[in-house]
Amino acid sequence: MGHPRPIVGGNWKMNTNLASAVELANDVVAGCSPFLDRVDVAVFPPFPYLQAVGRTLGHDGVTLGAQDVFDQPRGAFTGEVGTEMLLDLNVSQVLVGHSERRHQIGEPDDLVNRKLRAALWAGLSATLCVGETLEQRQAGRTEPNTVGQLMAGLSGVPPEQMRQVTIAYEPVWAIGTGMTATPEDAETVHKVLRATLGDLYDDPIAESTRIQYGGSVNANNAEALFGQPNIDGFLVGGASLDPDAFAAIVRAAADSG
Ligand code: PGA
Repeated sequence: MGHPRPIVGGNWKMNTNLASAVELANDVVAGCSPFLDRVDVAVFPPFPYLQAVGRTLGHDGVTLGAQDVFDQPRGAFTGEVGTEMLLDLNVSQVLVGHSERRHQIGEPDDLVNRKLRAALWAGLSATLCVGETLEQRQAGRTEPNTVGQLMAGLSGVPPEQMRQVTIAYEPVWAIGTGMTATPEDAETVHKVLRATLGDLYDDPIAESTRIQYGGSVNANNAEALFGQPNIDGFLVGGASLDPDAFAAIVRAAADSG
C-alpha cells in the first residue's frame, strides 16, 4: 500500500520575531499553496506569535500549530499555555514530547502522555515525537527506546482518537546537527514504530497513522527519505525558517506521494 496523505510540519522553535514570523508565514503560504491538495502542511510558531501567524495563514490552507501544550485546560499554572487558549487562537495541531523538551527541559514520558491526552480530548490534533539519543543508538538501544517512548506516549489513547495523532521519529543526534539518518536507518525505525501501532491498536490504524521523519531534513535529502515506504512526511526545524527550502521539502512529499 502507498503512503497515507503526507504531512509536513515546520517547527520554528524559539526563532523569529513578530514581523519576521508574519513574513515567513506569508512566504510559506505562497510557496506551499500549489501542494496543499496533496500534502497537509502545518507551521509551529512560538506562542507569542500564534495569533498574528494564524491571521496570516487564514482558515483553509496551511494549518496553525503550537510547539507545546500543558496538560490542563486552564488554571493556576504559571507560565503554561492550555488547550482552551490554543483553540481560541484557531490552533489545530500541537507538538508533544519534542526532544528539546524531553532532554533540555526534562519532560518525562508520563507528562508527555498527559499532554497528548489533554490535546486529543480537547479536539486538537497532536504530533507525538520520539527518538533515541546518540548514546542509546551506540548502545544498540534505538528500538527499545523509541518503542518505549511510543508506548508510554500513547498510553490510554483510545483507537478512535488515533485519527488525531501523528508520530514523528526524530533521532536526537540528527536534530539541528546536519547529521541526517540515512533513508534506510530511518525506515528501519519507522517500520518498527508502525508494527508497534499494529500491536497496540490494529492494522488499519497502523497503516493510516502518519509517521514523520525529523532531523536535519532539507531540500536535498527529503526526496530520498520520502521514497521509503514507512516515511509519511517530515517535521522540519532549521530548514523551515527558509521558505524556499521548506516549499521544496513539501514538494518532495507531494511529487512522490
Ligand atoms: P532540524 O530540527 O530540522 O533543525 O534538525 C528538527 C526538529 O527538531 O523538529
